[in-house]
Amino acid sequence: MDVASSATAAFRTTFGTDPAGLWAAPGRVNLIGEHTDYNDGYVLPFALPQQVVAAAAPGDGSGWTVCTDFAPDAVTFAEPAPGGVEGWAAYVAGVVWALREAGYAVPPARIALASDVPVGAGVSSSAALESAVLTALADLGGLDLPIARRPALAQRAENAYVGAPTGIMDQSASIRCETGRALFLDCRSLEIEQIPFDLTAAGLSILVVDSNAPHQHVDGEYGARRTSCEQAARILDVPALRDVTTGDLGAALARLDDEVMRRRVRHIITENQRVLDTVALLRAGRVREIGPLLTASHASMRDDFEITVDRVDVAVEAALAAGAYGARMTGGGFGGCVLALIDADRAGAVATAIEQAYRARSFAAPTAWSATPGPGARRL
Ligand code: GLA
Repeated sequence: MDVASSATAAFRTTFGTDPAGLWAAPGRVNLIGEHTDYNDGYVLPFALPQQVVAAAAPGDGSGWTVCTDFAPDAVTFAEPAPGGVEGWAAYVAGVVWALREAGYAVPPARIALASDVPVGAGVSSSAALESAVLTALADLGGLDLPIARRPALAQRAENAYVGAPTGIMDQSASIRCETGRALFLDCRSLEIEQIPFDLTAAGLSILVVDSNAPHQHVDGEYGARRTSCEQAARILDVPALRDVTTGDLGAALARLDDEVMRRRVRHIITENQRVLDTVALLRAGRVREIGPLLTASHASMRDDFEITVDRVDVAVEAALAAGAYGARMTGGGFGGCVLALIDADRAGAVATAIEQAYRARSFAAPTAWSATPGPGARRL
C-alpha cells in the first residue's frame, strides 16, 4: 500500500469516516552545507520522494486527535502545552502549540499519519511530519499563513516543544523545496533561490546510502557543536560565524586559543564557501564538477567538525573508489546517510561496492536508493 492509502486507511479505521483531504510533506537530503544553518549560513537541500502523508478532517470536539499506521493508540489533546504530549505525537502537538503561540486560530482536527521517510537516518522524518501537519492545519483552518513563515513555526515546534536544538534547514526543505530543484537558502535572511538540479539531463544520479549506523549520543553532540560555534562567534565578536569569510579565516583562527574550537570554526567557514561554490557551478550547469566540493565537505565534517562515524566514512571511501565524482555524509551526523554523485548507469555498481566494503568489516548491510528532487509540502 502506498503512503497516501495507508494514511487514508488509518483515518477510516480510527474515525470511521473518510478524511476531508490528504496533505504530504517530504524528507530531505542536504546536498551541501552541514551545521551551517544555526550559524546563519547557507544550505542546499533537496526534497526526497519519501514523504509523510496526513489524512485530516475537522474535529468534532474542541481538541485534536491523532493516530498513525505505526503506533497502536490514538492520542488526544486539548491544551497542547510543552511537556504535555510525548513520543511521536509531540511533533503534532508541538505544531498546534507553535501556531497558537503565534496567534493563529488552529481548527480542532482529526489526523491520521503514515510515512515512508526512514526514521533515524538523518533525512528529516520529524520535519516531514511537522510540515505535513502544519500544511494540513493551515488549509483546514483557512489560516493566513504565507509559505515563507511556515518553516520557522515548524522549527519552533521542534525546538521548544520536542526539545531538539536544531536549525531551520529541515523544515525549510520540507516546506519550500520544488521538483527538479535544490533549495539554496540563506538561513539569516531566509531568502531562497530554486536552483535547477536536473540530474537526469546530465546523465547523473545521486545515490543515497543509509549507513544504518546506530545513533550515538546524537542530541548531546549536536548541542555541543552548536554551543562551540556560538562561543566562537562571541570571542570573534560577530553575530554569527556566517559573518566570517574564508578571507578572514586565518586572522579569525589566530584569535582562538582552543584547538578544538579552531577546527569547528574552520568547518563552518569553509562549508559556507563550499555551498556558494556549489551553487555557482550548478547555476552554470556544471553539475559533475560539484563532486570535489562534496568530498571536501565530508573531509571537513570528519576531521574538523568530527561528526562522522566509521560506517559513514567507509561508505564515502567505497563510493569514491567505485568512481563517484564526490561523496559526503548528509544531515546532522553520527550515522545516517551518505550521498554520492555518480553516473546514472553506475548506481548498481557503486551500491555493490559499498555493500562489499561493509561486508568486509562485518557492518550490517547498508540501504541504497537513487534520489531525484521531489516536491515540497502540498495538498494531494
Ligand atoms: C539536523 C538539523 C538541521 C541541521 C543539520 C546539520 O538535520 O535538524 O537543522 O543543523 O542537522 O546540517
